[in-house]
Amino acid sequence: MVPTVTLNNDVQMPQLGFGVYKIADDEVERAIHTAIEAGYRAIDTATLYRNERGVGAAVRNSGLPRSELFVTTKLWNTEHGYDAALRAFDASLTELGLDYVDLYLIHWPVPSRDLYVETWRALEKINTEGRARAIGVSNFQVPHLERLIKETDVVPAVNQIELHPNLQQATLRGFDTDHGIVTESWSPLARGKLLEHEVLTTIARKHGKTPAQIVLRWHIEMGLVAIPKSVTPQRIRENIDIFDFELDTQDIAGIATLEANDRLGPNPDTHG
Ligand SMILES: NC(=O)c1ccc[n+]([C@@H]2O[C@H](COP(=O)([O-])OP(=O)(O)OC[C@H]3O[C@@H](n4cnc5c(N)ncnc54)[C@H](OP(=O)(O)O)[C@@H]3O)[C@@H](O)[C@H]2O)c1
Repeated sequence: MVPTVTLNNDVQMPQLGFGVYKIADDEVERAIHTAIEAGYRAIDTATLYRNERGVGAAVRNSGLPRSELFVTTKLWNTEHGYDAALRAFDASLTELGLDYVDLYLIHWPVPSRDLYVETWRALEKINTEGRARAIGVSNFQVPHLERLIKETDVVPAVNQIELHPNLQQATLRGFDTDHGIVTESWSPLARGKLLEHEVLTTIARKHGKTPAQIVLRWHIEMGLVAIPKSVTPQRIRENIDIFDFELDTQDIAGIATLEANDRLGPNPDTHG
């Protein structure tokens, strides 16, 4: 039901996944169960979210073969450095109770520490060992990506960045595409903030869909991977019910006008 994108090492990644930031460890298994029933096959967590244990339990108790689920987790800012990164990855696998993850990301570049290149070398080793089927980064800007590409052997498969109609990231998207890096949108719904905008409510009415569905469909048609979060069963189902309609050129042009360079999260150049 959900289309996949092919990563630069031929791994297939679902284009729509389930984000679990701010879902408590003891709530996350139930939320993921609802998501899996609705058709989601990808889950996006991180060490920071303190719910890897519940995510792992949900995966193991899903009734699905492990190979049918796509699990992403991320290395936190305090764990940069070659040895620290290897230890952090081991700790994540232990928390998850899994033998491998599908995608392991450096959560932020933390330029002030200047350790992301050696951290990346640890991810390359983890990837070679098959313990992460693909490796990537999150919140990396063009100069950070340029350095990784120049100084290391593996081009990131994914760059997960803040991206929604109010922050469309044209330059970074273009760089990712030119280098075979899949762009993944975090806060794809701008945390619900833009869903009452008239441009979106008008397009939604036209298609008999909700504004959230219009925004998520936009991510899909832009070739992005999107990972909306919800703890509300009806919204979890609503957010995946986007594969039975298409936006037209007028809709796409309307959404283009919502660009406001409006960042909800921290600036990656200074964060950490
Ligand atoms: N790499 C990074 O640095 C980074 C940073 C932030 C997030 N992320 C990832 O991206 C995921 C998504 O980002 P996010 O959680 O910040 O924001 P989001 O998915 O854009 O928005 C989530 C918010 O929107 C609400 N919502 C969800 N579906 C809705 C719908 N159909 N209609 C109306 N409201 C709806 C949710 O409420 P309810 O839950 O109450 O239903 C929640 O408050 C995270 O869970 C995480 O996995 C990554």
